[in-house]
Amino acid sequence: MKNKFLALCAVAASALSPVTFSNAQSNNVYTVKANEVKATVQPTMWGLFFEDINMGADGGIYAELVKNRSFEFDTPMMGWKEQKKEGATGKALVHNREAINPANRRYIRVESKPGDGYGLTNEGFRGMGIKKGEQYNFSVLARQQQGNNVALTVELVNPDGKVIGTTTVTPEGQQWKEYKASFTATETEPKAKLNIWPKGEGTVDLDMISLFPQHTWKERPNGLRADMVQLLADMKPGFLRFPGGCIVEGRTLDERFQWKKTIGPVEDRELIVNRWNTEFNHRLTPDYFQSFGLGFFEYFQLSEDIGAEPLPILNCGMACQFNTGELVPMDQLDPFIQDALDLIEFANGSVETTWGKKRADMGHPEPFNMKYLGVGNEQWGEQYIERYKAFEKALTEKYPDIKLITTTGPFPDGEEFEYLNTTLRSMKDARVDIIDEHYYRAPEWFRENATRYDNYDRNGPKIFAGEYASQTVAIASPDNKNTWNGAMSEAAFMTGLERNADVVVMASYAPLFAHAEAWQWTPDMIWVDNLRSYGTPNYQVQKIFSTNKGTHVVPVLLNNEAVTGQNGTFASATIDKNTNELILKVVNTSDKDLASEFVVDGVKKLNKKGTVTVLRSDNLNQENSFANPNAVSPTQKQVQVKDKKVKLNMQPYSVNVVRVKMS
Ligand code: AHR
Repeated sequence: MKNKFLALCAVAASALSPVTFSNAQSNNVYTVKANEVKATVQPTMWGLFFEDINMGADGGIYAELVKNRSFEFDTPMMGWKEQKKEGATGKALVHNREAINPANRRYIRVESKPGDGYGLTNEGFRGMGIKKGEQYNFSVLARQQQGNNVALTVELVNPDGKVIGTTTVTPEGQQWKEYKASFTATETEPKAKLNIWPKGEGTVDLDMISLFPQHTWKERPNGLRADMVQLLADMKPGFLRFPGGCIVEGRTLDERFQWKKTIGPVEDRELIVNRWNTEFNHRLTPDYFQSFGLGFFEYFQLSEDIGAEPLPILNCGMACQFNTGELVPMDQLDPFIQDALDLIEFANGSVETTWGKKRADMGHPEPFNMKYLGVGNEQWGEQYIERYKAFEKALTEKYPDIKLITTTGPFPDGEEFEYLNTTLRSMKDARVDIIDEHYYRAPEWFRENATRYDNYDRNGPKIFAGEYASQTVAIASPDNKNTWNGAMSEAAFMTGLERNADVVVMASYAPLFAHAEAWQWTPDMIWVDNLRSYGTPNYQVQKIFSTNKGTHVVPVLLNNEAVTGQNGTFASATIDKNTNELILKVVNTSDKDLASEFVVDGVKKLNKKGTVTVLRSDNLNQENSFANPNAVSPTQKQVQVKDKKVKLNMQPYSVNVVRVKMS
């Protein structure tokens, strides 16, 4: 099945061809009809797609520094190493208490002798990123077996073994209890490790061995990496789709994402393998598991924090069709549907309800006000339609106001797409609110498809452009890069999404995060390592669109036609009724300077001064990097406005966003 995915990818990417750009003309005169509103831009228009791929959650945004903290990986000691100084006789044995605690089966029993020199080291996720002067919070569940004799010395060490932070905890008694201790790091180190040295004579049981930075997003204990969330917040996203992606489906149904197992106390959240663990032979990541420290409560909270509508996607009774494609028989689908009903109660129900109470118990009595729910990820075939109808019936009966998102599979064209698109649009016995389309395509596809939605049915279901990214080599190729050519081409396409905002109500680039040393899929919007993070040119494009959304679409025309590639230019325009501004987005994909004029009809007056924010590079292969994170980043200057005309000199290969006050 995996081969089928790669085969399909190869077909889909076969349209890749060298980049060519039309020769540009100068002195283009565009007309903007500022009083001819064509569509309302939904507040959800530009949003985020989050998936735990590329160590996006564990090892990424979830700030836990200890890998395999609860010994639940398939190989229980993965990430851990025993330390034995000369003559040491201590030992650690993995215990399994599945019968009494199936969600958190394992712990380790450590035997310690005085002055023994036996210890354990955790390697972190490709090391631990530690910052000088910052506080780190260690915690562990522990119980003594004999007496109260074993204390734990906890150390952060750099690769040379130098201690850069230390503390001690002393477990007491024979009941499981949590012990905490904090300390300050004395050095910055991207590749630190954690040592635990038992001291004294006795036996101690340890579980959930954890280390978090004190400084997290909103300073939440055991929370999220602040720098990574900040990059998301800066985009002012309209929605946050979670938790994926293929991980929703799982390789097998047993390995699917089950939201109910991701809430409540973290030690009770049952870990499973991450679907990306062995997905690509060329990017094997055998230590990739889902601890669910970032679970559904935290996803809702994150959405709220960054002002995004929460958009959960649930498994619809189908495992990933690129893998096993396992199906839940129709007569056994009810628990899956019940999960969806219960999720809505968890998000929106009063604290008197079963699931609303669980939300309140986790610290959020107010509802999360969820409005959207995705049924399935990239499914295809009539099995999907059958299952979707069953979900739709039950959900409409109880929650008619929740908007449902359906899939058209992994590709934006081809047999599977056509079947689902036609069937969903002609279905009489179930409602279809929003259809999710995915396009992982060559940069030129994005430029050539800026008109994709011009002829879509204005009265049919709305579109969620749920996953897209220019693939500079081929889908899922490890050689794809986040180049300016890819980003600029996406911008050209996005003007088409915006022009069609009456049909397209949501759009998100995918995937979102990638750890530089632990990724499976490229390109990605934001790259991180243990200490740093940066936005790619694609991030900059997403951000410039999202932070310049406007409220209503108005026409911008060249020779009376929409600007969809003439002379290499692509344009869209909105007005913002809240700030009374005109917002023009113009992408010059040509290699020419274009001296352009935008004649604005339908306004009494335009302010004499406006601003233009520009993203550009002379080099189409330009990327951002840890060393040069701002190689492609916005610059702003003033534009001259005279007699309701905006003069703009568009540089080659540029994305230009103009804002001018109207009256
Ligand atoms: O974004 C990476 C993957 O691409 C997603 O998990 C899946 O939905 C798509 O095939």
